[in-house]
Amino acid sequence: MYYSEDLIAEVRSRSDIVDVIGSYISLTKKGANYVGVCPFHNDHKPSFSVSRAKQIYKCFACGEAGNVITFVMNYDNVTFPEAVRTLADRAGIKLPEIEVSDEEKKRAGKKLRLLEVNKEAATYFYRCLRSSRGEKGMEYFRKRELTDETMQKFGLGYAGVNGREVTEYLRSKGFSDDEIKESGLASSSEKYGLSSQFWNRVMFPIMDANHRVIGFGGRVMGTGEPKYLNSPETLIFDKRKNLYGFVFARNSRAGNFILCEGYMDVIAMHQAGFSQAVASLGTAFTEDQARLLARYTEKVYLAYDSDGPGVKAALRAIEILKNVGLSGRVIDMRPAKDPDEFIKTYGTGEFQKRIENAENSFYFLIRTIYDATDKSDPEQMTRFYKSIAEKLCVSFPEPLERENYLQGICAKYGIDAANMRAMVAGFAANGVGIENYTKPKPTVQKSAEEEPEKAAQAMLLTWLTDEPELLPLIKKYISVTDFTDEVYRKVAERVFEDLEENNFSAAAIVDLFEEDEQKEVAGLFQARLPETENGEERMKALSDIIIKVRENSYNYFTEHYGNDITKLQESIRLKKELEALKKKGI
Ligand code: UTP
Ligand code: MN
Repeated sequence: MYYSEDLIAEVRSRSDIVDVIGSYISLTKKGANYVGVCPFHNDHKPSFSVSRAKQIYKCFACGEAGNVITFVMNYDNVTFPEAVRTLADRAGIKLPEIEVSDEEKKRAGKKLRLLEVNKEAATYFYRCLRSSRGEKGMEYFRKRELTDETMQKFGLGYAGVNGREVTEYLRSKGFSDDEIKESGLASSSEKYGLSSQFWNRVMFPIMDANHRVIGFGGRVMGTGEPKYLNSPETLIFDKRKNLYGFVFARNSRAGNFILCEGYMDVIAMHQAGFSQAVASLGTAFTEDQARLLARYTEKVYLAYDSDGPGVKAALRAIEILKNVGLSGRVIDMRPAKDPDEFIKTYGTGEFQKRIENAENSFYFLIRTIYDATDKSDPEQMTRFYKSIAEKLCVSFPEPLERENYLQGICAKYGIDAANMRAMVAGFAANGVGIENYTKPKPTVQKSAEEEPEKAAQAMLLTWLTDEPELLPLIKKYISVTDFTDEVYRKVAERVFEDLEENNFSAAAIVDLFEEDEQKEVAGLFQARLPETENGEERMKALSDIIIKVRENSYNYFTEHYGNDITKLQESIRLKKELEALKKKGI
């Protein structure tokens, strides 16, 4: 933190959120809140809601949420201290100088410049594709059956006939050679001077979650090597953390993600209506990317190529998903090569069916081994059985779950279950899979919309902060430990404490969290509540929410501490209370 907490609090209190946001976008009053068109995603409807009472905003379409400081950060693409400074200037508050080290200022400034370079380059490529010089590119995209709308949505372009077109353009826009080079778009050589590696290629701008262009992929039209050329990593382009198509996919209503191998697959899928498709960026799928997906949903489908390398990549992706607590399902693309080809040949209806029939990743794993086994060779078959036994041990430390899979696999491959059980017992006795017993299951971040238990917790927090006078009543039934998610619990702790001391501020609580959690935290103060004016119905609704939160904490408790005897007694007590609550209401 560069400024003291007091100073930040003052800046916040003198920057009314409705005034500030109202100076960026147009807001109209609706009930207790103000609404407008969300500036953070492409929309025409007023889904963006600002609360003056709580000094918080939330978009009910894309989920963006935060306080006045995060708004300025996101809208102006600036860092926290920069946003505080903007707001302080606006409010006429004098801030002490040099809170940001020169080094950091320079870095932040440079990032902004590189984003500008990329934005201008993207504009250049985009126009070029639509000019006479881009005819070849346009012809290529048409051949791949992309509509104008799709090309526009993904900002597709053409790089020009030589590598100096774009660099000259960027120079004319006032960027220095160093800036152009640091953006990863060009390098200098004795022969060509400053020139881009991108020429005579169709261009795919790569956007981050905030619609900012952070890099490019460029494809040859027809055959040639390399097929795709990607921007190198730069100050603003981290290939491990971003996903192609994510900017749109995160707003998809599908409730799942489809992970593809390539840019064209993603684009074809979106065009066909599967706007939940994403792909890694010319590199293997990473754990950071998996974690990003896991924040939104538990359901990830893999739509990798059906060829050898595709299957290998899928197996690796499954491992990575597993490391963050997700179990991917694999979409069978055969006999097509990839999703693009599949949709073109068999249509969207068929693809939808394939999604529904997607194979559990364990079955997929076993099938790939089976496919590689020579069934006429007894030795190979024995090895196949052994690897099933081993994988059952490793993948399923819980005996019941393991047994389920064992039966499923045995039925599928006509294996005698008793024999398989014996083999599994042999592996287990040798300690295979034992470390998985003690390894804690990774926790998965899911949004409140995704999980009813979380939704109830969010509603309770919103309700409580809407009507603080309910605190004594709610406290009778709910304690901080009933909030089972770590972030939620931290928020609840603060809310309870601050309300008691009469100095609650939703906007201040948002600032206590890291940037990647702020959205979720701000969302907790603006959950949708049941709309009813009737006092009795309202109390019934509140009572239902309280019961849900309690029930969830009871389940969580027994699941995590079920074999601890004192905790067990505790949970029996909880259960009794819960039953009473269900009968009587609050
Ligand atoms: P594919 O070769 O499967 O390409 O590579 P694709 O996406 O299906 O493209 P089309 O349909 O032939 O146009 C999958 C992904 O691997 C990366 C790219 O990200 C590509 O989208 N890749 C592939 C490269 O980065 N460089 C290459 O030379 C090839
Ligand atoms: Mn492909």
